[in-house]
Amino acid sequence: MELYEAIYNRRIVRDFQDKTVPEEVLERIINAGLQAPTHDHLRNWEFVILQDKKDKEQALQFISNGVKPQLEILKQILVNGTPQQKMYAVAMPRQYSMLFNASHIIFPFFKSNSGVMHPTSVSSLNPLSSIWCVIENIFLAATAEGLACSMRIPVGDEGINVAAEVGAPDDYLLPCYIGLGYPADDKPFVEQVEYTAKQKMHFGKW
Ligand SMILES: Cc1cc2nc3c(=O)[nH]c(=O)nc-3n(C[C@H](O)[C@H](O)[C@H](O)COP(=O)(O)O)c2cc1C
Repeated sequence: MELYEAIYNRRIVRDFQDKTVPEEVLERIINAGLQAPTHDHLRNWEFVILQDKKDKEQALQFISNGVKPQLEILKQILVNGTPQQKMYAVAMPRQYSMLFNASHIIFPFFKSNSGVMHPTSVSSLNPLSSIWCVIENIFLAATAEGLACSMRIPVGDEGINVAAEVGAPDDYLLPCYIGLGYPADDKPFVEQVEYTAKQKMHFGKW
């Protein structure tokens, strides 16, 4: 698949077929992640990958607590009636299933430093910024392989709890969970708010 085709076709998907992603495909996708730019030249990233249902259950046990604050946001959005409403309506009930039913869950860890959680400038966030470059590469590589990803941001202590559950060292943080799998044929269509480059470009001055 062409790069631009992968970029335009990439979508977060929350419904998957019951079909296993072959290990060599998984490896290609993680390798694509590892090609991302890195703030420290060291690519301090590690990936815990779960396929076994019991392992998934253990690692996802903290999600129900994490959903509560998001349900409040959901209510507000439903009242306001913005275009996000439909996305939330699709996403919120699937926060567990979109990971559990994926062929694999990828936990992309990055090595933290004292500044990440208490930033004094944008550069304090470099470790976090770098891992998001990795994550986007994973999304695009998955798309190029005919696969798709779901993604959840851990809420509150969820990330720390999951990290401990899967045995990550204390100085490694989890920015998100990624579900990887074959998209279900009957997955819901999630409307996007479309922009063109012309609307967003400011030549010379904003
Ligand atoms: C920083 C970030 C956090 C997100 N958090 C979640 C999440 O916790 N749960 C979820 O289902 N989707 C999450 N998403 C996915 C967005 O809902 C999705 O990217 C957005 O609706 C646009 O759709 P698209 O990715 O298919 O273009 C997140 C995306 C980003 C970039």
